[in-house]
Formats: sequence, structure tokens, C-alpha cells
Amino acid sequence: MAASPLRADNQTPLRGFDPRVLRREFPIFTSHPELVFLDSGASAQKPRSVIDGLAEFYRTDYANVHRGVYHLSARSTDRFEEAREKVRAFLNAADEREIVFVRGATEAINLVAQSWGPAHLKAGDEIVVSDVEHHSNFVPWQMLCQRMGARLVIAPTDASGGFDLAAFEALVSAHKIHYFIGTNRGSFGGGSGTSTQITTWVAGHFTAKTVGGVTIYDLTSPTR
Ligand SMILES: Cc1ncc(COP(=O)(O)O)c(C=O)c1O
Repeated sequence: MAASPLRADNQTPLRGFDPRVLRREFPIFTSHPELVFLDSGASAQKPRSVIDGLAEFYRTDYANVHRGVYHLSARSTDRFEEAREKVRAFLNAADEREIVFVRGATEAINLVAQSWGPAHLKAGDEIVVSDVEHHSNFVPWQMLCQRMGARLVIAPTDASGGFDLAAFEALVSAHKIHYFIGTNRGSFGGGSGTSTQITTWVAGHFTAKTVGGVTIYDLTSPTR
């Protein structure tokens, strides 16, 4: 019998999860049965429901969203807003206005850095990013820090590419960190601290409740 897939902490089996069943939802694996696809950050493969939904939308409803008063535009707008509500429910967000659709991670991070950043950041504040971030989760914070007179603090990873939790804890204790920019990059090796551990640690020690900190995650790549 195949071993049960494990949760991110590598301890608790995920009951009832069969990757073969999930795989069948992705037509790409029918065309390429031997495929192992790891480039999800840049180009996630699409399940049948998404491919069919897009094709059906282009065949039956496609028009401007939120910009036209004609029938097709109204229908497209309704479907667009239905999708927003579905995402809200999935993420358990309090309000649909919290769900903002963008074209990709780079646009999302720049949007937060350029809108929320100047409204909240003060000179002398510190932002932490890890030393293995994608450029799109590094440059916007670097530019924001330069603009606001804030400081960018780099959290180290260990030799195997995992987060160095001890170094991270020391770093946060030594600084009055206000913002932690997290990542969940699946490409990290099995170091002493996984992104899940960082998430847990941040949630326990370093939340808006304790220091007024804000945590932002780049969830582009698969989690581990
Ligand atoms: C971890 C991570 N962050 C951000 C990005 C940038 O994503 P996008 O192309 O959607 O802007 C990528 C792209 O590969 C990524 O892997």
C-alpha cells in the first residue's frame, strides 16, 4: 500500500487524500502520463473544471466586466462577482471587499507595497524578508524602505535551504520588527525550520496583537 501523504509538519497523515484521484482532474496528465510538474509558481497546471469553465465562458458570456450596461457584460460581471464570493468563502474572509483579483504575484505584492506601505510605514520601521525570496517579493520592499526611510532586515536560511528558526528568533528579538513578509516556497529543502514552522512561530510570537506587526505571505509556489 502506498504511504499516506504527510502534512507540512511531516507527522500527521492527511486522511482521505488520494493524489491519484486529484491527478485525474488535470487533463495534462492524460496527455503526458509520466509528467511530474514542479513549475507551479510561474504556470500552475489547470484542472478540468477550470479549463471547461474558461472555454464555456468564452463561448457563452464573454464581455467587459464592470464596464458595460448590455446583457453580456452584466452576465459576465455577475459571474466575476460570484467567483469573488466563492474565493471569500474558501479563504473565510469577512468581506468580499477583502478579495482583490490581480494578474500575478508581482502585481499583488507591488500593490500592497505601494498602497498600504506608505500609509502605514514610518521611518525607522523594519521589514523582514528571507534571503531566498523571489525578486518580486524582495524588490518592492526594498524600494518601499528606501522611500520611507525604513530598514530591510534579511532572515537567513540554513545550509539545506530551510529557514533557520534560531537565527530568525534571534533576529526578531534583537529588532523591533513591524512587518514580516513571509513566503511558502515549496522549493525549500528540509532545513531546521520550514515555512510552516515560521508561520506558526509568527502567529504565536509576532502578531498584530503584540507589536502591531503585519504578516504578508507569498503563496505562489506549493506549500510544504
Ligand atoms: C515564489 C514566487 N513569488 C513570486 C513569483 C512571481 O509571480 P508572477 O509571475 O505571478 O508575478 C514567482 C514566479 O515564479 C514565484 O515563484
